[in-house]
Amino acid sequence: MVYDFDTPVNRKGTGCEKWDEMASAFGKGDLLPFWVADMDFKAAPEIVETLREKTASGVFGYPVMTDSARESVAGWLGTRHGFSVDVPEVGFSPGIITSLSIAVQEFTSPGDGVVIQTPVYPQFFTLIRKNGRAVVENPLIETENGYEMDFDNLRRVITPNVRAMLLCSPHNPVGRVWKPKELKQLAEICMERGVTLLSDEIHQDIVYSGARHEPFQLAAPEASACALTFVAPSKTFNIAGLCGSAWVAKDRKIAQRMEKALSSVHCANINMLALAALEAAYRKGAPWLDQLVAYLEGNRDFLEKFLRERLPKAKMKRPEGTFVFWLDFRGYGLDAKELQRVLVEEAGVALNPGGAFSGDCGGFARMNVGCPRAMLEEGLSRMERAFAKL
Ligand SMILES: Cc1ncc(COP(=O)(O)O)c(C=O)c1O
Repeated sequence: MVYDFDTPVNRKGTGCEKWDEMASAFGKGDLLPFWVADMDFKAAPEIVETLREKTASGVFGYPVMTDSARESVAGWLGTRHGFSVDVPEVGFSPGIITSLSIAVQEFTSPGDGVVIQTPVYPQFFTLIRKNGRAVVENPLIETENGYEMDFDNLRRVITPNVRAMLLCSPHNPVGRVWKPKELKQLAEICMERGVTLLSDEIHQDIVYSGARHEPFQLAAPEASACALTFVAPSKTFNIAGLCGSAWVAKDRKIAQRMEKALSSVHCANINMLALAALEAAYRKGAPWLDQLVAYLEGNRDFLEKFLRERLPKAKMKRPEGTFVFWLDFRGYGLDAKELQRVLVEEAGVALNPGGAFSGDCGGFARMNVGCPRAMLEEGLSRMERAFAKL
């Protein structure tokens, strides 16, 4: 079967954040949106059909988190990522941010430090702070070829009150797919310092030619006693609004603690539609995903070429994964406010301001390319015209 990623889907007026919340976020509602990290594609027909059957039944009672659903997660991680997982090592929660928040509460104490590697997904800052913990930044190093972890600085910033670290793997927004060697080095430091490593692998399935995602607990099985991995079909299959995610702990004690902590706030289950969609996605979604990834890689290549030829002062380190790309506009010499003004007022596009990902990244913006190529081309052409006038 050949899936269609080119036909536009009209989402305006459907109550979706990406298209319907621009007026409050950007002061204008008629922009072309490249911000919120969901995609302007319909979900795989295999998932839609499963949901159709469920809703047609007219029965929406409490679901069971079945072994079959756990097996579907384990099966996916095994076949897709070579990560061998047993059914009791899998748990559920309504979302990755929910899981990360609960894990931070469970594995650290109020006032403790939690490390993040900036620039990074803004909710990482928020969840740490809202849980009364301190953000400890270990900025990524920007090199000619891409971004790298700063292991020397990591050792410096892990003081005795730093108890956990959030790893974004692959990394939103710089698009790095971490190599086993890097993950091993990270694991060594976490084990040495007794830091719990919370590995957010929500972007694991969108990885481009030449790169391979390595689950943290596969790269460093020796670190499993201080590690948790968080996965979801939400980004992969564009079903984030259904609210379903899973987590994996190879260590029995860690798994028990996580399950208990989630249960204590009634978050160890997911709703019946999310559960059905998760299982359908992991059991039947691979062919759709293969075509999606090829399409997104085409969008990445298109964007790269467009920047080179028509927006040469805007730069991008080639992303190895994710569909949210980190554009460097520093070449235009604008401050953060002026850059956003040009994007919003002159170009009519909504990109996430870079400053939300790191205080010193006001010269950047994050662009979501999870959309039909024609929409990407339209957005970039608008940007070309706006920047040409500067
Ligand atoms: C790295 C990362 N983690 C978590 C999330 C959100 O996960 P959830 O909706 O399951 O809470 C996102 C969404 O953009 C993300 O990029």
